[in-house]
Amino acid sequence: MANIGIVIPAAGQGKRMGAGYNKQFLMLMEKPILAHTVRLFEESDFVSEIVIVGAEGDISVIKELVYYQEFHKVAAVCIGGVLRQDSVRAGVRALSPTIQRIVVHDGARPLLTLQAFHKFLEETREYSAAIMGVPIKDTVKRVDIAGKVLDTLPRDYLRAAQTPQIFDREILEEAHQQAASVGYYGTDDASLLEWMGHPVQMVEGMQENIKVTTPEDLLLAERILTQRR
Ligand code: C5P
Repeated sequence: MANIGIVIPAAGQGKRMGAGYNKQFLMLMEKPILAHTVRLFEESDFVSEIVIVGAEGDISVIKELVYYQEFHKVAAVCIGGVLRQDSVRAGVRALSPTIQRIVVHDGARPLLTLQAFHKFLEETREYSAAIMGVPIKDTVKRVDIAGKVLDTLPRDYLRAAQTPQIFDREILEEAHQQAASVGYYGTDDASLLEWMGHPVQMVEGMQENIKVTTPEDLLLAERILTQRR
C-alpha cells in the first residue's frame, strides 16, 4: 500500500468564497487552508510523493508555503488549468514514473483525518478506482431551467462524492486522455472513469470532510478543528 502519490488540485478561483483571492490561502487556525491539507499527506507513511497544482500567479506563494511548513514530500508545484480536470492532469504528469497508485484530494478539503485516510486506503486496496462519499441529508430534486421541479431522486442510493479519490495510474491517465481528446468535462476524476465505462467503488466518507467553498464553511471548519484540539 506504500508508494502512493498525491495530487492536490488547488488552482481554483474560489469565486464562491468572495475573498478576492484563492480560497486555499485563507487562514484556518493560524495556517492557510492548503497547509492543513498537505500536512495530512506529509504525515502518512503510505505517501511517498505529493504534487500541488496551483494557479500560475500562486506558484511562488505555494512554494514558500512548502518551504516554511517543511513539506519534504512535495516533489513539484505545477501550474493548473482552466478546468479542475486540466489541473489534475497536470499534477499526474508531474509525479515520478515509479508512482503507480494515485490519490487525488482537493486542496480545499482540510478536515480529512489521518485515521480516515488510512481506513480509506485499506478499504479501497482491491479496487482500481474508488472514492469517498457520504449519504445525502436533504431530499434532492431535479429542476428545469425555470426552477420547476421535475422529480425527486430516491435518497437511499444518493451519495455526495468527496475526495480522496484513488486510482491505478494507468486507468486515471487513460480517462484524462480520452476525456481531453473529445472535450468531455466532469467535476471530479471518478466521473471521467464512469463516462469511460470503468467501475468506480464508493466507500463511506466522513461528513466532516467538507470542501471549504463559502464563508459559512470556513466558520464550520474552525469549529470542527477547535473541537478536535
Ligand atoms: O471548483 P471546485 O470547488 O470543484 O474545486 C475543487 C478543487 O479543485 C479545489 O481545491 C480547487 O482549487 C481545485 N481546482 C483546480 N483547478 C481548477 C478548478 C478547481 O485545481 N481549474
